[in-house]
Amino acid sequence: MFGIFASNPLYCRASGAFDPDVLDAGQARDYLRNDIGMDGCSALLARIDRGRAVAYLSLPARHPKDGLPWVMELVVHGEMQGRGIGGRLTKHAEDTFRATGAGTARICVLEQTPPAREFWAALGWRAIRQGVPNENGRVVIVMEKSLTGA
Ligand SMILES: CC(C)(COP(=O)(O)OP(=O)(O)OC[C@H]1O[C@@H](n2cnc3c(N)ncnc32)[C@H](O)[C@@H]1OP(=O)(O)O)[C@@H](O)C(=O)NCCC(=O)NCCS
Repeated sequence: MFGIFASNPLYCRASGAFDPDVLDAGQARDYLRNDIGMDGCSALLARIDRGRAVAYLSLPARHPKDGLPWVMELVVHGEMQGRGIGGRLTKHAEDTFRATGAGTARICVLEQTPPAREFWAALGWRAIRQGVPNENGRVVIVMEKSLTGA
């Protein structure tokens, strides 16, 4: 997991969660602990060839602010982006939420990372709120997707 974040320095800086120049495995572990401490949260570390970790995904079933399921974090290793991994994990997240009967899911995207916003938009998520400050004082866009196909 440490390697996944370390290979995404722009994202780390933009999110305010990590300083990529001083990032260490202990910080990544604390971050993971915080994620899985959320209500009903499952965290997934995707591996290829039963070896190298290539992506991290965390899915709280009920976000403390609105009770909806969220994709809290999706980060693909910097060397493995653009190969369909993020898209497959997003489908996994949507299927997981749908299986619980959820009709809507949300994510937040940093305003400073337009490619991530385009990624979500390409997968059918739409912006519902802009200019929202996150817990690290960064500005995010909240995006939403209907899981019912309506
Ligand atoms: C954003 C991120 C998760 C995307 O994962 P990825 O594995 O590179 O994306 P994929 O290769 O699975 O792309 C899935 C689809 O999105 C589209 N897409 C991806 N990036 C895009 C972009 N910048 N603009 C338009 N479409 C884009 C792809 O074309 C693809 O569509 P297709 O299946 O029809 O070809 C990854 O780049 C990442 O980890 N970025 C850093 C962390 C981050 O910003 N995470 C998001 C937090 S909100």
